[in-house]
Amino acid sequence: IPVDPFDLVIFGGTGDLARRKILPGLYRRFLAGQMTDDSVIIGAARSELDDEGYREMVAKAVIEFTPKDKLDRDGLTRFLAHVRYISVDGKVSGGWEKLKEVVRQGVVKAFYFSVAPSLFGELAEKLHRHGIADAESRIVVEKPFGRDLASARALNRVLADHFAEEQIYRIDHYLGKETVQNLMAVRFANILFEPLWKAEYIDHVQITVAETVGVDGRGAYYDKSGAMRDMVQNHLMQLLCLIAMEPPYHFDPNAVRDEKLKVIRALDAVQPDDIVRGQYLAGNGQGSYVEHSEDPNSRTESYIALKCHVSNWRWKGTPFYLRTGKRLRARTSEIAVVFKEPPHTLFDDATGWRENVLVIRLQPNEGMELSVMIKEPGPGGMRLKQVPLDMAFATALGAEAADVPDAYERLIMDVIRGNQTLFMRGDEVEAAWAWADPIIQGWEARGDKPQGYDPGSSGPEDALMLMHRDGRRWRDIRE
Ligand code: BG6
Repeated sequence: IPVDPFDLVIFGGTGDLARRKILPGLYRRFLAGQMTDDSVIIGAARSELDDEGYREMVAKAVIEFTPKDKLDRDGLTRFLAHVRYISVDGKVSGGWEKLKEVVRQGVVKAFYFSVAPSLFGELAEKLHRHGIADAESRIVVEKPFGRDLASARALNRVLADHFAEEQIYRIDHYLGKETVQNLMAVRFANILFEPLWKAEYIDHVQITVAETVGVDGRGAYYDKSGAMRDMVQNHLMQLLCLIAMEPPYHFDPNAVRDEKLKVIRALDAVQPDDIVRGQYLAGNGQGSYVEHSEDPNSRTESYIALKCHVSNWRWKGTPFYLRTGKRLRARTSEIAVVFKEPPHTLFDDATGWRENVLVIRLQPNEGMELSVMIKEPGPGGMRLKQVPLDMAFATALGAEAADVPDAYERLIMDVIRGNQTLFMRGDEVEAAWAWADPIIQGWEARGDKPQGYDPGSSGPEDALMLMHRDGRRWRDIRE
């Protein structure tokens, strides 16, 4: 079903994100028939380009970042007819006036700020001064949304000077991932899980986002960020919220975000002993973290594991273990909900009893797996065996699963539809920073150094201890 006609202006339209994600994403939605014939995409940046020059750049980007089997050359030509370019803020004068002439009234107007956050204020102000944006327009902003509470508040204020909260779409691309949204469906569309979804029955939750890539080429940004700011404060926090939140009274943007906010506010301060930071060493023919960071003494973490507690009625006593890192053994993201023992045990450990685990695999190989105990077949007495009830979405859904839009495609279309459910609200981002700030300040004040770990490993040794000392263990990192 096509979305309403729109004019989408991409500031930073020649940048990396636009080339890798936004433009190829729009192209795929166009092929899927979601763009009306009169919708227009306007690249806006400093470079002096004309429409034709920009279309060439867009075509190259689409070809480079679209899987070969999804590339339709005729479709690309038709898509490019929707694309325009306006040089703003460069040596060419009159860019803003031109933008005003081009952006139409009576269609959805969206402005994607794919630029450094330091430019948000200036863009917001100019859009208003030139009468380009109005009370109906939408703006889209990317992470990093601040690097601490103070800077996030400042960004929220700058945007609030010109736009209402209902107009602001803060992207966390993890929320656009199909399986992440599926978490809500699994929890709230089935009666099976929710009665057990509490400390009484859940021993602990593990959230893992493991990557094999390093920070190559992004050293300058990453070194000021580290895994805590780059991944935990946003992506892992969102996953934690979806697992821990109460059922919203309605599947509506503010009802969902209210519940997520309550989870973040219920998080206890994290104790220093419950945090392990790591930095990858050289190996496998690749350089160490510090070789990419440009600072030979960098203390930035490329890995972090931590234990946290959601202090509310539902979760008191169930720890949440989070970990994420680069250059690890495999690229895999999953959430594992590990259940407790039955209250009265007929079968002791010698029978092979193991706990039930619900694993939600976010990527790759999206799906869910519930491990249950059965009797081992054969006459050897009551021996138990843990077997998976496996639901790989690709198998269960067939062709439908292959057609799943990627995170950016989904989120950009949600902007045009005016649905903020999968976007972070200002107060949510601030609450997440309010939780993360003291953790970061703590290790900075203590002068903690991250522990080295080998590339291709599961992370630093101490991270294993974080679990072992609680009598638990991390699941293996493997695809
Ligand atoms: C980004 C981080 O937000 O997410 C990157 O800045 C990280 O460091 C990336 O690699 C991971 O995203 P995905 O979709 O590949 O899991």
